[in-house]
Amino acid sequence: MRALVKLGPDSNEFKLMDVPIPTINEDELLVSVKAIGVGIHDGYFFPENIQFPYPIGIEGSGIIEKAGKNFPGFMPGDRIAFVSMQQPKGGTYAEYAALGKKSLVVHIPPQMSFAQAAAIPVAGNTILKVYQALELKTGQSIFIAGASGAIGMFAIPLAVAKGCSVAASASKKNHDFLKSLGAEKAVDYHDTDWVEQVRQWRPDGVDAGIAIQPNTSSQSMDTVKDGGKIISVSGDRIEAHRNIRVVQLPYHIDVKDDLLDMFNKIAKKEMPLFIEHIFQFEDALKALTLKGSRHARGKSVIVLP
Ligand SMILES: NC(=O)c1ccc[n+]([C@@H]2O[C@H](COP(=O)([O-])OP(=O)(O)OC[C@H]3O[C@@H](n4cnc5c(N)ncnc54)[C@H](OP(=O)(O)O)[C@@H]3O)[C@@H](O)[C@H]2O)c1
Repeated sequence: MRALVKLGPDSNEFKLMDVPIPTINEDELLVSVKAIGVGIHDGYFFPENIQFPYPIGIEGSGIIEKAGKNFPGFMPGDRIAFVSMQQPKGGTYAEYAALGKKSLVVHIPPQMSFAQAAAIPVAGNTILKVYQALELKTGQSIFIAGASGAIGMFAIPLAVAKGCSVAASASKKNHDFLKSLGAEKAVDYHDTDWVEQVRQWRPDGVDAGIAIQPNTSSQSMDTVKDGGKIISVSGDRIEAHRNIRVVQLPYHIDVKDDLLDMFNKIAKKEMPLFIEHIFQFEDALKALTLKGSRHARGKSVIVLP
């Protein structure tokens, strides 16, 4: 099968090449991959003790080719979307992928395309966990740093649906996009006074801050009121002050039902999904490079025939 692989443990080179189709056991699924969600982590987040060349990638969508008998609820022919992290048998930038029991697997609504489905799992799963942890209440306000990307495009409408008011940052060219997602206030992180601009919107500070982009937590905390909450999606180390609570991302909680609900809302166009680019598999490396710029709007996906 064709796959985009990392060539070796010390190599930063990725190459499209032929590799064997993974073999599965009774605890696993084999998926014929139809679309791949592109994430910045695809270029540097790998399991330990893997064999090279190793197909990269952690999310996608496709059709189940084979289903192990110990993987209940899924059958050959099912249309699924998935997050497959730390998979030693290889990732999702491949014609076939093995999914283990720890993978997050959901059925795709019938009217949803594979390209749409591949754009949702990682960002959806992440932001749903963020909101479980933040426990926002109707009428509260939040600030989201780096909100025009894959996670932000879900973060804003989900907060609005909870009855919260949102201020969000991105560069000016993305402000109309932030507002179309439901942000009440958009600020440009290039402006030296963007924190004050958020403070003019909510003079006492917002109830909670979500720092999506790396290294945005410290300044995001300056927008939060005394005793509010802050969470980092990228793992920034945050030194709390003014009784602000640093909330950790709860990786181990299960948000699968909420994720399914999100798939259904997107399929019914009750929630937005913005796919900036759809790449062919031959251009997978181009897709990864573009994502690495950290200036992508929404999500990009790669499709396979
Ligand atoms: N913890 C987890 O489970 C988890 C899961 C997924 C992702 N992540 C991490 O989350 C981060 C973001 O993910 P993503 O896919 O949403 O990002 P993304 O799609 O790459 O976000 C891009 C957006 O961020 C904006 N941006 C870039 N630099 C910024 C800055 N300094 N301040 C504010 N905004 C900035 C850009 O706006 P402009 O183009 O307008 O500049 C761009 O629209 C990544 O670091 C990723 O590794 C964590």
